[in-house]
Order: sequence, then structure tokens, then C-alpha cells
Amino acid sequence: MRFTIITAFPDFFRDFLSTSIVGRAVKAGLFQVEAIDLRSFGKGAYRQIDDYAFGGGGMVLAPKPLKDALNAVSARTGEQRQKPFLICPTPQGALLTQETVETLYRQPHVVIVCGHYEGIDERFIEGEVDLEVSIGDCVLTGGEIPAMVVIDAVSRLIPGVVGKSGAVKEDSFYRGMLDHPHYTRPSSWEGRGVPEALLSGDAGDIDAWRRKEAVARTVTRRPDLLAKSDLGYYAGEVYVVIECGSARHVGEWAKLCESYGVSRLLLAMNSPEKREILRQDLGESSGVKLMPSLEYAVDWAAKKGKKGGRGKGKNLPLLVEVPNSEREGARHWLDVKRLVLEKGGPVLFYLFEDDRSAEKSDAIRLVPLQEGKLPFYGKLAALLDRFLGSR
Ligand code: ADE
Repeated sequence: MRFTIITAFPDFFRDFLSTSIVGRAVKAGLFQVEAIDLRSFGKGAYRQIDDYAFGGGGMVLAPKPLKDALNAVSARTGEQRQKPFLICPTPQGALLTQETVETLYRQPHVVIVCGHYEGIDERFIEGEVDLEVSIGDCVLTGGEIPAMVVIDAVSRLIPGVVGKSGAVKEDSFYRGMLDHPHYTRPSSWEGRGVPEALLSGDAGDIDAWRRKEAVARTVTRRPDLLAKSDLGYYAGEVYVVIECGSARHVGEWAKLCESYGVSRLLLAMNSPEKREILRQDLGESSGVKLMPSLEYAVDWAAKKGKKGGRGKGKNLPLLVEVPNSEREGARHWLDVKRLVLEKGGPVLFYLFEDDRSAEKSDAIRLVPLQEGKLPFYGKLAALLDRFLGSR
């Protein structure tokens, strides 16, 4: 991929593009960056690129030099037909997030127009800019440092830029969570040790500790991020129980559950004859488990949790009913997601294909998704996407 930076201060980028990880990646040709001097498109002997703001209030970058610079880029690269993706760092932009970084990574050519002084003439922004981005609720002297932030963040996603390929996946925000703490030698420093799990050498324990810490940090520092987190990755086993009268849609449900990484789809069906027919239809490899009732399925998951978990009853699943209609004491899905993440254990969602509701008193009941107006398949998809969807 390629970045073109249009800036009045190309010198800003010299060290950035030749130092450390970005420098190495540029040198290795993993991506290309060029900085275009906006002043060479300025007016007159002084190469003027700005002018007084109408209405007063300082200098504004004029639209013509910016457009000329952009045209020169397109003419050189022959991109008249497929326009590059143009972004403009400004405090008025949308806050830069990992999602935006991923969008930019998917563009073959990103042009970054760096503002300065009071800003950029709005007509250029309206006519040319695809996205205005802010790197935080603070005002900087220009768009150059935000441009470096953007390039740095995007470059990390380009294969080969960051040494260990797994590392990007463990980053803060990659799965919607903050990163866990890190430690290096010595194992004791100024009276502070290193968490036992990290010294254990047990990959499973280390992984579990890291996930737990990532969740704990996110819950206390940035609870707003929880909506973006992938519950399956952090909470372990996720079961879905559907109580249904017929097998008509089982194939679709199973596919949906599989794509969202549900550990097991359990079907509660009280007719032994229907269960037997369905068992034969599905075959051994379907991964769908048939149960006579919801209570049976809950007991099965609880036993499985006990067997798999460490300590007495530690891994009993949290039961979450996904009802069709509003009930007293219901909880918002985001609140339940936080609860599951805090508990860190398995979770079992249960749904009824018809309009019934469960009587299990120890279950958490969700506020109906989309006010209960979704058809069953939509309800299942919305549930899985909110709790298990990756952002
Ligand atoms: N230019 C000036 N301040 C900025 C900010 N916070 N983000 C992006 N561009 C800027």
C-alpha cells in the first residue's frame, strides 16, 4: 500500500520514515510513503499557500494549492479513475479508532492532507476529503503528527512490519479490549514481583492470566469498549440452547452458531420420536446436541463446566435467557456482557423458538433485543453478533 502526505512541512517526516519499525518497513518496501511539499504548489514568488480567514481569525490553507497538489499526485500515479482515499487530520474529525485504522489498511492508496494554522478551506474538504480524523480531544499545531500516528497504526497491520505475527492480535483494541500488563527481568524489582502465572511456564495459565487482566483493565478503565469485545475469546465456552418443537431450521441455526464460534448448540426437544429422527438427520458430526428439555441442557452444561473448571463449581455457566417480551428485572445486553466478562466463566444462552418464556429463577434475563420485534433467526443472529461478533 501507499501513503502520500501533502504537507507544508515535509521535513517533519524524514526521521519518522527512516527510523525504527516504520523505517525498516519502508526500507524493505513493505509499504511506500512520499511527502509532497505543498509550498511547491503555492502562489507567486513567496509560494503562498494560505490566506486570511473570511470573517477574521487567522490564516487558512487555500483550496487551490491543495487541489493542485492532489492533481499532481493523481497525474503522476495515473489514478484518475480510481481515486485515492483522502483523509485530513483535524480536531473536528471522528476520533481515530482501530476500526478506522483497519479501513485505511484496506485502501491501496491513502492521501493525508495536513492542515496548519486555523485549518483548511472547507470547500476543499467538502469536495475532496473522504474522512476527517482526530487523534484526540486536544488541539495540535498541525496535521503532521496525526499523519504519523495514522501511518504508524496502519503500518502495524501490514504483514511483516511487526516482527511476531501474533503480537498484533494481542494488541490493545485488536479484540476490543485493552492490553494486559507486561513484565521483563528481573523478577523482583524495587520490592515488586511478577505475577506467579507468568513465571509458571504453563502456556494455558499464562494465557488465562493475560485474558483476565485484559478484561479487568477494560472493565475499570474503559467500560465503553466492552461492546466491541469478542466474548468467546475472553469468557471461554459459550453454549446456546434452543427449545424448539421442530427441526425445520436446525441447519441454519447450527451454521450461524458455528460461524460465531459457539462451543456447542444444544437443542431442547421434548418429543423422543422427533429427537430420534433429528439425530439421524443430523448425523454424528453435526456438533448439535439433543436434549429432552431446557433443564436437562442446563444441567449438562453445568456438569461440563465443573469437569473442565479449576476449583469447586468455579466454572458453572452463567445462565442467560433471551426472552421474546419484556419481563421484570431484565438486564441490558451490555450490562450482561460485562457481567460475563467479569465472571470469566462459561455462559449459556437460552432461547425459545416460540413465544414462551422460561421459569428458571436463577437465570439472568436480557431485555428483548430490538424490542422483541425480530423473527427468531434474526434474534439469534443479533444475540451472537452482540456477544461474539468481532468488530
Ligand atoms: N490537528 C490539530 N489537532 C488535531 C487533532 N487533535 N487530531 C488531528 N489533527 C489535528
